[in-house]
Amino acid sequence: MSLLKYDLSGSFVGDHGLSSADLQAFEKEVLAASAEVLGPDIDQYASGEIPDAKQPLDSAFFEMPQRLLSEYAKDRDSSELGQILKTAKRIRESVDRVVVLGIGGSYMGARALMEACCHPYHNELSRADRGSRPRMYFEGNNVDNDATQGLLDLVNSAGEDWAIVVISKSGGTMETAVAFRQFLRNLTEQCGEDRLGEFVVPVTGKSGKLFELSEAIGCKEKFAVPDGVGGRFSILSPVGLVPAAILGIDVVRLLEGAAAMNEHFRTAKYTSNVVQQFVASNYLMYRQRECNLRLMSVWAKSLESVGLWYDQLMAESLGKHGLGATPLTVVNTRDLHSRAQQHQEGARDKFIVNVTTETWHRDALPVGSQPWDQDELNRLADRTLPDIMTAAIKGTNKAYADDNRPTADICLPKIDEYHLGQLFQMLMTATVVEGRLMEINPYGQPGVEAYKINMKAELGI
Ligand code: PA5
Repeated sequence: MSLLKYDLSGSFVGDHGLSSADLQAFEKEVLAASAEVLGPDIDQYASGEIPDAKQPLDSAFFEMPQRLLSEYAKDRDSSELGQILKTAKRIRESVDRVVVLGIGGSYMGARALMEACCHPYHNELSRADRGSRPRMYFEGNNVDNDATQGLLDLVNSAGEDWAIVVISKSGGTMETAVAFRQFLRNLTEQCGEDRLGEFVVPVTGKSGKLFELSEAIGCKEKFAVPDGVGGRFSILSPVGLVPAAILGIDVVRLLEGAAAMNEHFRTAKYTSNVVQQFVASNYLMYRQRECNLRLMSVWAKSLESVGLWYDQLMAESLGKHGLGATPLTVVNTRDLHSRAQQHQEGARDKFIVNVTTETWHRDALPVGSQPWDQDELNRLADRTLPDIMTAAIKGTNKAYADDNRPTADICLPKIDEYHLGQLFQMLMTATVVEGRLMEINPYGQPGVEAYKINMKAELGI
């Protein structure tokens, strides 16, 4: 089994960083929080005996990858995963564009999967170059007049069939519901009311406004957001899997990666357990070193939306009761030219976690030689983009270490479904363990209600 690595060596930078003794002393607390996540959290959810202090308890995300895989192994056709794959194939074969409507946890996972797994210019490629997979767009995550109409212009004028995947657990989120109504109106012009149900795939709760609307439209297939799985923990449920499968992403490998991470979390000892070491280092930097900013520094453009997905996961899960570090994603080397000045010399309030890959999908592209050497790069002619990237990573980490700025590294053997499945599951599990350590409920987002109430009052509803 090839598992992602978590390397803490860059965080041992004297008074501003961690020490082995601190990490060791923290073991008992992290193990207790892990035991709560693996034991009572799962058991109490399963038995329905959830104490008030733990409401809401959305711990079903943890066992979901293994559950989906086992059900699929037993019955390839009628299992949930089998149905997802069947619907994905039907949509892939019948349309050229898919609009995914959803907000927050109901779209950020799918976008992260698309950017990490598909060609960087997927939507610009011909159907043949896309391997007969549709183009995909994300809306319903805002109420932006011009952006919505820009996408409507595109799907209406392309002269190709398109479909909607609409995702909302509650089924009542304003942004998504408004966009669904607007896109549905346009879709009706394409296929007529009678065939709408073929071109709309809803992913929602087992009741609610969106569920009822989908029934009324006559949707051929509907997928449920499983009970006990909250939005930002739903990437490996139909919420993330339906769009991913439509794009031809290997969702089985994704789930296998997540299941492998669960096994590792359950069995590895503290000193080599990547989930526990990640929690311990990040939480100690926050609690002991007042690092209120947690930077996820990704060293591949395809990982930017993975970082944004983690920003949401952390912000909504741990930003409660006046606590919680602020997450921030940076993409390097791009942001070395926009943010690195501050990271190198600004306030000592940051812990930087790099995410790197050991292999690239494409052959290494050399700088190349040319007759004009005014840029003096002929001496690097045989060096490649991965060579320069590796030098930049080492150089940046060294510059931070030289000034006692702590860093850590998540190293992915490859940016593929198997290792991404591990990463997503690792980060979700780490977030709930950290929540239990902080005595904060990582589930639910009560603070988001205030804007919704005020917005509705402004609208007179
Ligand atoms: O993580 C969460 O729970 C939220 O970000 C939700 O996903 C978001 O508010 C959308 O909710 P819903 O799926 O009910 O439309």
